[in-house]
Amino acid sequence: MSVDTAIVAPPAEHAGLKIPAHIAVIMDGNGRWAKARGKVRTEGHVEGVKALRRLVDLGIRYGVKHLTVFSFSSENWRRPREEVSFILGLLFRFVASDLASLMRDNVRVRIIGTRDGLDEELRRVISDVERRTATNSGLQLNVAFNYGGKAELTDAARSIAARVAAGTLLPDDVTEDTVAAALYTHGSPDPDIILRTSGEQRISNFLLWQGAYSELIFIEENWPDFDEATFLKVLDVYSARQRRFGGLGSDPR
Ligand code: FPP
Repeated sequence: MSVDTAIVAPPAEHAGLKIPAHIAVIMDGNGRWAKARGKVRTEGHVEGVKALRRLVDLGIRYGVKHLTVFSFSSENWRRPREEVSFILGLLFRFVASDLASLMRDNVRVRIIGTRDGLDEELRRVISDVERRTATNSGLQLNVAFNYGGKAELTDAARSIAARVAAGTLLPDDVTEDTVAAALYTHGSPDPDIILRTSGEQRISNFLLWQGAYSELIFIEENWPDFDEATFLKVLDVYSARQRRFGGLGSDPR
């Protein structure tokens, strides 16, 4: 039987924390995690998938409604061919072998990014997991794969231009909502937090539009070390931030 994660409250001992509706994560530092342990980089990616599963479980337990994770950027094709194939294989295994647990946990999965360059079999598995989880009503998991923020905005501009050229949309009727609806993430609210692990402090072409007012949180831990203690630390930092969205907030001085 499915569990409706919408009714899950944060564990009582953490009742004072603000729970963001949407957390986006740049899962960085897999290679460094592996190197520090004398392992090959790909072992870091395998541990990275385990950390992703921990994040999904934590999101469900604490009542986060949307997660967007950066698992492969359009620029990552520049890595050695073996590493690229390995990460493609991990996505394949993540969506194929975790399907049962994602269904059990009522998770709705969407793979965001361009399908260009992905082989037929991988596209089929992606479409399959999206179709099978489409009616799940719990946590929304957006996996950014072969994703780049500039490419996403370019695709959105192209689709809006096509509607204008076809005469179904007037230029004056193009609003911020029109753009947001044309993005890969349509249907998810903008992220409250963009978290990056491993000490790097960059956005790296991730959610350029959606992150306009996200709280940026950078932590030193490498992604494979992400666990509940790290998650709580991030929620603590977020809970202490005052979000003003360009206004003056509740204490204008
Ligand atoms: C960044 O670490 C990580 C990546 C580019 C890949 C992220 C992939 C995963 C977490 C596993 C894949 C998950 C799915 C669902 C496909 P890095 O390699 O840049 O590490 P480094 O900066 O220490 O070298």
